[in-house]
Amino acid sequence: MDLIKNGNLLRKLRKEKRLTKKELADKLGIVAKTVSKWETGHGFPDVSTLSALSEIFGVSEKSLLCGDLPQNKQESGNIRRTKFYVCPSCGSIMQAMGNCEISCCGKSLKPLQTQAPNNEHTLTISDIEDELFLEVSHSMSKEHYISFIAYLGYDKLYTFRLYPEQDCAIRIPKAYNGSILYYCNQHGLFAYRITRKR
Ligand SMILES: [Fe+2]
Repeated sequence: MDLIKNGNLLRKLRKEKRLTKKELADKLGIVAKTVSKWETGHGFPDVSTLSALSEIFGVSEKSLLCGDLPQNKQESGNIRRTKFYVCPSCGSIMQAMGNCEISCCGKSLKPLQTQAPNNEHTLTISDIEDELFLEVSHSMSKEHYISFIAYLGYDKLYTFRLYPEQDCAIRIPKAYNGSILYYCNQHGLFAYRITRKR
């Protein structure tokens, strides 16, 4: 650990929050001298204080330990790079366009990898007037079901949350290009590429 680097980060974060050393120390129930020590590289917070600092600054403990705030490259919010995350504990669904650190229920999550549809997870697309009717042929029991279907176009993302016992089908405005993604709670994320003629 480079204590100078860690100290510099702590100082930077404190200043961004417009806190004096005393104000930060009061929040942590310690003396201002201790904050000075950290910021000059003569010490480092213990585990419980690190967690409190993470809460105060809104920065992960990992970043405080590394002494660095990782920055994503400017991706101009490219929607085509959208990644999906599902928490294995609570089932929450999250989406991100950049390389975010996503965590839920105390665990950090990896983006879901897509796979091609298979016989147990087939998608049917039908035209109904100005819309597309998308239906996934799959169980919708409590134990085994499709929890979301999404359409990802070059400038649009529609996500439909589905629940057990519900029909596994959605309607979206007519689209000619893009991807349909659907997530089975037991078998993962499936992706189907749409390329249709107008
Ligand atoms: Fe499945």
